[in-house]
Amino acid sequence: MNTADWTRRRMLRAGIAALGAATVAKVSLSEALAESGHWYGDESYPLPVPEQTPANLPLLTCAPALVNMGDGKPRRVLAYNGQFPGPTWVARTGDMVTTRLQNGLDDPTITHWHGLVVDFANDGGPLLEIEPGTSYDYSFPIVQRAGLNFYHPHPHMLTGEQVCLGLAGAFIIRDDEEDALGLPSGPYEVPLVIRDASFDNQGNLLYNPTSSGFKGKFPLVNGTLNPMLNVDRGVYRLRVLNGANARMFRLALSNGAPLTIIGNDGGLLPAPVMVTEILLGMAERLDLLVDFRTLGAGQSITLRCLDARWDLVKFVGAGQLGVTYSPPPVLSTILPLSGPSQPTRSFTFDGMSRINGLEYDPNRLDFRVPLGVTERWRFKTGGNAPHPVHVHGAHFQVVSRTGGRGRLYGWEGGWKDTVLLNDRETVDVLIRFNAYRDPYVIHCHQLEHESMGMMANFDVY
Ligand code: C2O
Ligand code: CU
Ligand code: CU
Repeated sequence: MNTADWTRRRMLRAGIAALGAATVAKVSLSEALAESGHWYGDESYPLPVPEQTPANLPLLTCAPALVNMGDGKPRRVLAYNGQFPGPTWVARTGDMVTTRLQNGLDDPTITHWHGLVVDFANDGGPLLEIEPGTSYDYSFPIVQRAGLNFYHPHPHMLTGEQVCLGLAGAFIIRDDEEDALGLPSGPYEVPLVIRDASFDNQGNLLYNPTSSGFKGKFPLVNGTLNPMLNVDRGVYRLRVLNGANARMFRLALSNGAPLTIIGNDGGLLPAPVMVTEILLGMAERLDLLVDFRTLGAGQSITLRCLDARWDLVKFVGAGQLGVTYSPPPVLSTILPLSGPSQPTRSFTFDGMSRINGLEYDPNRLDFRVPLGVTERWRFKTGGNAPHPVHVHGAHFQVVSRTGGRGRLYGWEGGWKDTVLLNDRETVDVLIRFNAYRDPYVIHCHQLEHESMGMMANFDVY
C-alpha cells in the first residue's frame, strides 16, 4: 500500500461522485454560495453539548446519519450512534471501559482511543480494522490520570475521510487529583470539539482534500455552525479539542482577555499559564479557564481563530451569577523525566507521506523500544509542515524546539501525546513506555499525511 494506491482510491470515489453531470454543476454553485458567505446564513445557533456516556456503553455504531448542525436542515454525515460529534465518554481512572464497535459503514473501520494508554488489542490501530457489517469488542482498564482524550476511526488509508465525514468524539477521564481542585463543573464545564467542514450541493459533509490536506470552508464547534452559548457571570472551564484533519487554530478571545491554561493532552499542567493566544495543532487538546464575571447581560465575547479569521463560539452574557474560581498556583506535581541528552532515535517527517524516507507498510516493523526505559526522540520536518506528531501507547514530555518558532509554549508542559512540528522545526521529547509490551504506531496527525503513509509501526518489548 502506498501513496499511489491511496490516490487511486480517492480518484475512484471522485469519479463515482462525478458520474451524474448535474452534480458537478451544482457543486460549483454551492461553492459560489459558500464563498459569498450565505450558505447557511449569519444566524447563531445554540451550542449543543454532546450527550455523555459512562465507561460501559453496550454498542458503539458507526453509520451514516442525518444530523442538525443548528439551522435545522438535515445533513448527511458519518456518526457514532447517530450523533455528531459522538457521545462524550466520561470515566474515571481504574474504570473498565467496555463497548462493542459495530461497523455500519461501506468501508473498513476501527476506533482508536487517542490519548488512552491501552494494549494492542484495544488500541484500534490500522492493523485491527474490521469489515462492514462486523463488530469488534473492546475491554480495557483506564490506567492513566484525568484528561481530555479523543476517539476517532483509524483504518488503513481511510482515517482522514472517516474523521472528516463526522466520526469523532471526546473522551474525558476524571480522577481524585482533579476532583480535589474543585474546578467549575456541570454547566460550567464545556467541551468544545472544533473542526472545519465543507458541504456538497445538498449541504452534506464533503471530503475533498487537496495536496495540503482537507481544508474546510466553515468552522463547526460540537457539530454546529455559528454556535453561541449563554453564559453566567462566572468562570468557565472549556475543554478544547482540535478535531480538524489539517487545520491549526490560533485561538484568542475577541476582547484580547487572557485564557488561563490548566491542562493539555495529558491532563493537568504543573501550574496555570496565562496567554492571549494559542496555536493548537491537529489532535491537540486544551483545558482552559475563561472568566466571564464582568460580562453583562446581552454583551458578548467570541472565541476566535486569528489565522482563519473565524468566530468559533460566541459567549453571550445571561446576567446571572455563576461561579467564582481561581486556580491554585500548583495544579499537579509532575516529575520531569530524566533521560539521555542526545537523541535515542530520530524521525524525519518527509514530504506528505513518509517517515525517515519510508511510507507506512502494515507488514513492516520499523523499530523496537524497551519497556520502562526513558528515550529521547527527535522529530524533524523535511518540508510540508505542519506535522503534528502523535505516538500511541505512551505520553511524553516535550523538552526542546529549535528552528522555526524556536521555543516551547505554556500549553506544551506536563504530559503530551501530540506535539506540533511546524516549518523548519526540530522537536525533542522524552518518552517512556510503562504499560504494555505491544506494537503501536507513530504518525503525523495531519490526517491526509497519515492516510497517505506518514506512519510507522514499532514494538515495545
Ligand atoms: Cu488520533 Cu493514531 O491517532
Ligand atoms: Cu492516538
Ligand atoms: Cu504531516
